Amino acid sequence: MDALQRYLQSSIGKKQIVAVTGLMLIGFILGHLAGNLLMFRGSEALNGYAHKLATMRPALLLVELALCVVFIVHLSFTLWLLLSNTDARPVPYESYEPTERSLSTRLMPYTGSLLAIFVLWHLFDFTFSDQTGALSVVVGKDSMGLYGVVFNAFQSSFHSGLYILAMCAIGFHLTHGFQSFLQTLGFNHPKYTPGIKVISTLLGVAVAALFSSIPIYVKFFASPI
Ligand code: HEM
Repeated sequence: MDALQRYLQSSIGKKQIVAVTGLMLIGFILGHLAGNLLMFRGSEALNGYAHKLATMRPALLLVELALCVVFIVHLSFTLWLLLSNTDARPVPYESYEPTERSLSTRLMPYTGSLLAIFVLWHLFDFTFSDQTGALSVVVGKDSMGLYGVVFNAFQSSFHSGLYILAMCAIGFHLTHGFQSFLQTLGFNHPKYTPGIKVISTLLGVAVAALFSSIPIYVKFFASPI
């Protein structure tokens, strides 16, 4: 018990917890992205996928609960780490010149906060919304279900614009987050660092671009049914 307490209070312990929960969230994001790209294949594909997930409900609920816990642990340990770093040095450096801190690193607190707000908004947008009612596309008596809800949401340029802004935030957050995850796990060697930076940047750009392609495609090219 004492050892656990000491581990949780150490800076490296907190960093490792942030890193491992961050990796789990990246896993969810990549899976979620793969599911969402079914928007490109039309209503049957996306609704079929949503239906399949719905049939897995009782088991899926456990996964969702675990995801929620992981998200909360990731956020609270990040905050704890930030606060204990500030406590460790309450007086700021007289002349502090950050050495080569990249844009994605400096933006971490902002992209992280933006993402937390985005996820809450996003859940009310799609998960908790009425997926068969007036928010969806209804043709006669047939509802286009979740596909219709996403289709209608992205007809608004403002709505789509906010999503694209959040997807840029996720791109920046992943760029630094993945790099930081590898460093925390010990891949911190001048030989590997340039390669790690390139892979993390590619991951961030690919995730932001692929997610952003969905509102753009829906707004300009997709069919409502
Ligand atoms: C263009 C981008 C995105 C689209 C179109 C999208 C679409 C959706 C849809 C349709 C659902 C509801 C699924 C259902 O009820 O079966 C959903 C749920 C969810 N999305 Fe997204 N999403 C996007 C980006 C993101 C991002 C970047 C994150 C995380 C940072 C995220 C996190 C979630 C979570 C946590 C849920 C709830 C999962 C669940 O109910 O099991 N989404 N999303």
